[in-house]
Amino acid sequence: MRVEIRPIERADLPGVLALCAAEGFGSYAEDAEVTWRALTNPGVTSLVAVEKGRVLGVAQMLGDGVIQAFLVLLVVHPDMRGRGLGRRLVEEACARAGGKRVDLLAEEGAEAFYTRFAHRRKPGFRLYPDPPR
Ligand SMILES: CC(C)(COP(=O)(O)OP(=O)(O)OC[C@H]1O[C@@H](n2cnc3c(N)ncnc32)[C@H](O)[C@@H]1OP(=O)(O)O)[C@@H](O)C(=O)NCCC(=O)NCCS
Repeated sequence: MRVEIRPIERADLPGVLALCAAEGFGSYAEDAEVTWRALTNPGVTSLVAVEKGRVLGVAQMLGDGVIQAFLVLLVVHPDMRGRGLGRRLVEEACARAGGKRVDLLAEEGAEAFYTRFAHRRKPGFRLYPDPPR
């Protein structure tokens, strides 16, 4: 059975939280309601890779729908990596979010994955509007 890529549904949330927790993505794993809002607010495209109800991957993209999108979350279950799911999630999220280009901040170890796409490198920053004191 081919793994399906589709928009996230509420029943997928525990699987998504588990993927994020296993990856150490704490901001997405700590509070289920906050994560659900983050994944479903207006302007957000959130997709899951699912097989027989099991969540094997997740991608979240933000976008203006016409020019710019941002890939903010991408995880594939460790047992399922190297089978094209990451690429499918990115390509489908691009198609659904719209826009001409996608920016992202790569995690260490994931840079080589992104070089497989047509790309340009630019320095990235993450700003914190409310930094801890
Ligand atoms: C990065 C990640 C999403 C890739 O998912 P994946 O399903 O294994 O990727 P795919 O199988 O679709 O790979 C697509 C291509 O990238 C290559 N690739 C994938 N991961 C790679 C890596 N870490 N290093 C080098 N090449 C990689 C594949 O060989 C494949 O190449 P091809 O197109 O020539 O066949 C996955 O490794 C992951 O979840 N990592 C942990 C979380 C993470 O770092 N997420 C990114 C946050 S920025």
